[in-house]
Amino acid sequence: NKVVLAYSGGLDTSVIVPWLRENYGCEVVCFTADVGQGITELDGLEEKAKASGASQLVVKDLTEEFVKDFIYPCLRAGAIYERKYLLGTSMARPVIAKAMVDVAKAVGADAVAHGCTGKGNDQVRFELTFFALNPELNVVAPWREWDITGREDAIEYAKKHNVPVPVTKKSIYSRDRNLWHLSHEGDILEDPANEPRSDMYMMTVDPEDAPNEPEYLEIGIVSGIPVSLDGKELSPATLLAQLNEIGGRHGIGRIDMVENRLVGMKSRGVYETPGGTILFTAVRELETLTLDRETMQWKDTNALKYAELVYAGRWFDPLRESIDAFMESITKDTTGSVRLKLYKGSVNVVGRKSPNSLYREDISSFENGEIYNQADAAGFIRLYGLPMRVRAMLEKGL
Ligand code: ARG
Ligand code: SIN
Repeated sequence: NKVVLAYSGGLDTSVIVPWLRENYGCEVVCFTADVGQGITELDGLEEKAKASGASQLVVKDLTEEFVKDFIYPCLRAGAIYERKYLLGTSMARPVIAKAMVDVAKAVGADAVAHGCTGKGNDQVRFELTFFALNPELNVVAPWREWDITGREDAIEYAKKHNVPVPVTKKSIYSRDRNLWHLSHEGDILEDPANEPRSDMYMMTVDPEDAPNEPEYLEIGIVSGIPVSLDGKELSPATLLAQLNEIGGRHGIGRIDMVENRLVGMKSRGVYETPGGTILFTAVRELETLTLDRETMQWKDTNALKYAELVYAGRWFDPLRESIDAFMESITKDTTGSVRLKLYKGSVNVVGRKSPNSLYREDISSFENGEIYNQADAAGFIRLYGLPMRVRAMLEKGL
């Protein structure tokens, strides 16, 4: 038998390779997905995987698929978890797990394995995706089985099994990076009262060190999906990469929060989402022109559920897919452009335009127009306020 392991090349996944061979007697195929975590992480990976005892390493570039089919639907939906989190890690797990299911099929593996701990959300996201896409696959989660507890244990296990210990110095933080975001957890962050150290951040400069000159940019949007930057059409991954660069140098998109994990515990995380923050601002703003009041409220209500499903790993749940169909339909006229001003950590909207705009200057203007007659408002207010009036009459015995 054969197992496909989600492999990063770090100490933990390097130790999982010999552990799987020893405890399950299986051939290990390592799989690494490129979701924009930074190309240096992929250098020399094949030799490393083989030195750990893997029969082969499969690498797939998932960046465009990740942005187009996972990130953009969440952006269009306006999905934000617990008021702040833009779901960077949550969206990446299903695209990686989906690719693992494909690799398992291609190499004839009957099992898949991942290096997530038994205390987090990621294990759930991987495994629900495996369930949904191939219910026959066996799943191995070493962290829930073995007695390796810390870094020292892992190094010792590696040495005993002649596995080279990765030279890359392990950071004190638990980090997860992809094209959308970078997350930081652990170490001093575990006390929610501690301010993050400024040397922790990697995608963004400190807002106080950002340029003293603001920068303007224009995002073009078609049906709730960003398509261009300053009039230039770009592929999803290219657009996001460029906005990360621009947003990063203006210190945009830092989030510090305490969140509720699916497994019940609270956890403190700090996120950097520079390009994503710019895109969220732009897409939401355009909706102020294209959606009416009730539609926007209904969309926002559904966005909460959508975010919760994505956070909880239920990407391939028909409920998430159905809400997505609703989001696609409701945003089909959200086309146009938004002009933004970036300055020292803030992104402000300075203008918006849409060929489908519901805003009409001839109606909304302070100048008098034809369609809106101010005299109509008197009757409207009398009927609209009738319930309040009746209640007040009751209270006053009238
Ligand atoms: N708390 C965030 C989430 O659940 C980030 C998790 C980061 N994962 C990691 N393996 N470091 O989506
Ligand atoms: C982990 O526990 O593997 C990372 C954190 C998380 O999944 O929430």
